[in-house]
Amino acid sequence: MIAITGTPGTGKSSVAKILQEKGYRVANVNQLAKKYGCVDENEGVVDVEKLSKIVSNLDYDFIEGHISHLLNTDVIIVLRCNPKELKRRLENRGWEIDKILENLEAEIVDRILIESIERSLNVHEIDTTYKTPEEVAAMIESILKGKKYPVGKIDWISEIENEIERFIRK
Ligand SMILES: Nc1ncnc2c1ncn2[C@@H]1O[C@H](COP(=O)(O)OP(=O)(O)OP(=O)(O)O)[C@@H](O)[C@H]1O
Ligand SMILES: [Mg+2]
Repeated sequence: MIAITGTPGTGKSSVAKILQEKGYRVANVNQLAKKYGCVDENEGVVDVEKLSKIVSNLDYDFIEGHISHLLNTDVIIVLRCNPKELKRRLENRGWEIDKILENLEAEIVDRILIESIERSLNVHEIDTTYKTPEEVAAMIESILKGKKYPVGKIDWISEIENEIERFIRK
């Protein structure tokens, strides 16, 4: 089983839909959590430990969602997106600025990537910034055939260095 994870807006659900259309068995973490009673009624948070045990007995090719890397899958694929493009994608959703900032920060500091490499030795990282969901789906299929997309090549802080410098000098 392969987890497709990443900051909200990196395109997990878009790519999952394509993989499903190609015939793969794909599940969404939140839907699984609801189906198997793993959502705390009061706080609405997912009981990851409980869900992880349930998921290990299921038979999906892919599980997508921004906490899918916390489940015990064989492989983790982290989708990434340049913060400037991610900002546009999240603004298009009409999200409030605080929520956008929180997610941009998570992307800039590699939060999900770090959580993933702490849990698994089999982690791939795909930059979706200039790719269509179809292209990303094809890259994911190539992972099934043995291709590797090693982690550690993406460095958003360097890419937005000018913006950071301008911010500091202002
Ligand atoms: N490769 C891409 N290029 C351009 N836009 C994309 C790409 N992938 C997704 N998008 C757009 O970005 C937005 C977010 O995509 P999507 O809903 O698939 O993200 P997600 O990772 O599933 O987010 P969430 O964690 O909130 O569910 C959508 O409007 C989608 O059309
Ligand atoms: Mg989604």
